[in-house]
Amino acid sequence: MSNSDQKKQAVARAAIEYVEYDDIVGVGTGSTVDYFIEYLKPLKNKISGAVASSISTQEKLEANGIRVLDLNDVSDIPIYIDGADEVNPNLQLIKGGGGALTREKIIAGASNKFLCIVDESKVVDVLGKFPLPIEILPMARSFVAREIIKNKGMPVWRENFITDNGNLILDINHMDIIEPIKLEKDLNQIPGILTVGLFAERPADKVLVSNEKEVVELKKAN
Ligand code: A5P
Repeated sequence: MSNSDQKKQAVARAAIEYVEYDDIVGVGTGSTVDYFIEYLKPLKNKISGAVASSISTQEKLEANGIRVLDLNDVSDIPIYIDGADEVNPNLQLIKGGGGALTREKIIAGASNKFLCIVDESKVVDVLGKFPLPIEILPMARSFVAREIIKNKGMPVWRENFITDNGNLILDINHMDIIEPIKLEKDLNQIPGILTVGLFAERPADKVLVSNEKEVVELKKAN
């Protein structure tokens, strides 16, 4: 197993401590969460079920015998556990590298607590080196791209990729995201954008980071 996989596995294992008896657990998407699902498997009869943030996660949960609930049938999700592509000291995130940002954002918004699990390579001072994913309606692709260029972003169409919701992804390159909440709000105003992969308005509540030696909690900036 690669060094990076070992770190993902370690932080996924640490996240299990935050799952409580009878919880409905929101489950994110990605390679770090895949390890978390493996650790969740032995708890399948202790939790009430899981809400999945993608079809791929749903399939993995079900393959491990974990009961998957529809978000519409659930009123309270005590905890949502997911990875990220970048994390800053305010616990704001870029997500959507795997294209699951819309369902991830919905479940993060619906959950009482969002626990983010990353390895140390994801921690940055300023968000934006990782291209910012946005999910867009197919008919709006060119229009949205032009609007982003006007705002000094460099959009790249993620070709041959369709989201679980039947939409497209543009990845916005070369941005120093100095004001994440403002950018999230501004992009949300452009018609045709369904979801911006910035989790700034609703950041993580806690971020666990694995390094070479241990798993630590990311210290939040004042
Ligand atoms: C999925 O759309 C993303 O938001 C993932 O949470 C993110 O890409 C992290 O994935 P890894 O755990 O595979 O790095």
